[in-house]
Amino acid sequence: MKILILNGPNLNLLGKREPEVYGNLSFETFFTTLHKKYSKIELEYFQSNIEGEIINKLHEVGFSFDGIILNAGAYTHTSIAIGDAIKGIETPVIEVHISNVHAREDFRHISYIAPNAKGVIAGFGLKSYELAIESFI
Ligand code: DQA
Repeated sequence: MKILILNGPNLNLLGKREPEVYGNLSFETFFTTLHKKYSKIELEYFQSNIEGEIINKLHEVGFSFDGIILNAGAYTHTSIAIGDAIKGIETPVIEVHISNVHAREDFRHISYIAPNAKGVIAGFGLKSYELAIESFI
């Protein structure tokens, strides 16, 4: 089983960025533990701060991988183009968020990903990614 974790803008700063909201762990450190825990799954990771690169990655893996776990960061709330990309591929996408976006500012309640996603997981910290993996197993 091949799964891609795709992180969007500012998620390269995890561990340093607003730790009271997003925690103290870098994604690279977390990904190492995920890799060990799910050693039978071919788990790949890609992060970009650039909307077009996220779309290119969705196109690249979206006809061959079994699942995509997407945290599009703030693009979740703005990007019709990422929403369209998800609509255009075959691989199911799960939208994840570290924080509970529904308990935060109103602009974070809008998602252009959710209508085209298989499901949405938000608010469980980095555990949100694990729950998404479990849902694919
Ligand atoms: C986030 C929530 C978004 O609203 C925010 O812009 C992020 C991170 C989360 O994982 O909680 O960058 O996607």
